[in-house]
Amino acid sequence: MIYQKSSPLTIENIVNSKINSVDFKNLKFGHVFTDYMFECDYTDGSWVNPIIKPFGNLSISPASKVFHYGQAVFEGMKAYKDDQGKIWLFRPEENFKRINKSSKRLAIPEFPKDLFFEALEKMLVLDKDWIKPGIGNSLYIRPFVIATQAEVSASPSNEYKFLILFSPAQAYYAGDVKVVIAEHYSRSADGGVGAAKAAGNYAAQFYPTNLAKEKGFQQIIWTDSKEHKYLEEAGTMNVFFRINDTLITAPVSDRILDGVTRNSLIALAKRDGIEVEERKITVEELKEASNNNTLKEIFGAGTAAVISPVSDFSHKNQVYHLPKIKESYASIFKSKLLNIQHNTSEDSFGWRYPVQ
Ligand code: COI
Repeated sequence: MIYQKSSPLTIENIVNSKINSVDFKNLKFGHVFTDYMFECDYTDGSWVNPIIKPFGNLSISPASKVFHYGQAVFEGMKAYKDDQGKIWLFRPEENFKRINKSSKRLAIPEFPKDLFFEALEKMLVLDKDWIKPGIGNSLYIRPFVIATQAEVSASPSNEYKFLILFSPAQAYYAGDVKVVIAEHYSRSADGGVGAAKAAGNYAAQFYPTNLAKEKGFQQIIWTDSKEHKYLEEAGTMNVFFRINDTLITAPVSDRILDGVTRNSLIALAKRDGIEVEERKITVEELKEASNNNTLKEIFGAGTAAVISPVSDFSHKNQVYHLPKIKESYASIFKSKLLNIQHNTSEDSFGWRYPVQ
């Protein structure tokens, strides 16, 4: 994608940092933002005026296409600080590739790689004090693109904003979650946008998730839209099932997000001699495994929550409970992943990315 080098990245410094007003021990996910943000405009066929500036409101026309047609995509990634104060990213190239893949699906122009990394790294250095060391602490990174052309015709925008926000984070879900298996609503369909991190994918989950919450469940396990027979994702995460000692997860398709955490868990499991099957798994197989006690674990995997164990699932108004087990795959893989991310273990895959 075209990026005019004649339009170099500029930095507008903050006057006062907000950092002293933040209680880092009691962070609600995605609630607090750092001092800086990155903004870059797409106009006349190129990305121009990239700037890192103080976090603040945008001023855009109410006719902007993003408000009418939801032409928007985003990413979720994290930065970590080790005990020596060094900042690390985890597989950032994967997120960069995926935001452009999502953009392509939503007819949004791709963003240039050199500018993405330059902006991200410079902003991380400016906001470095917001990244706290220690397992469990991280800085959630939210790159996103919105369509800003002020015109309500239903066609792709010819103007966009690419932005990056940072939010200090701790755990996403507190404790194990109870989930409902979808029997009516769907997250995605063949040929749809399920494989993209399109903003509307997430909005479409809110109503069915509210219905689940009214019944005492926190999340939904999404099933295929045709028959509601195959298990696909859990809430905003990929989902893994452990039957006996085998890990099973749905294969990626245009209904399923190609998750970075998902792929990392599969690689770690294979490296450590755990059998992993990327295959279709049915609701019936899951219920049968629960009934004959071969179902050991269910957990979601995603950037925000890392790994989120499921304690109960419900289908056709029947609740199935998963007894707690010692040395769960969920806890083993979570600690392996966090140790790699926080630079407290070897990184045999070369996933850590140092921020200069
Ligand atoms: C992720 O965990 O990857 C997410 O995108 C979660 C986000 C919707 C809060």
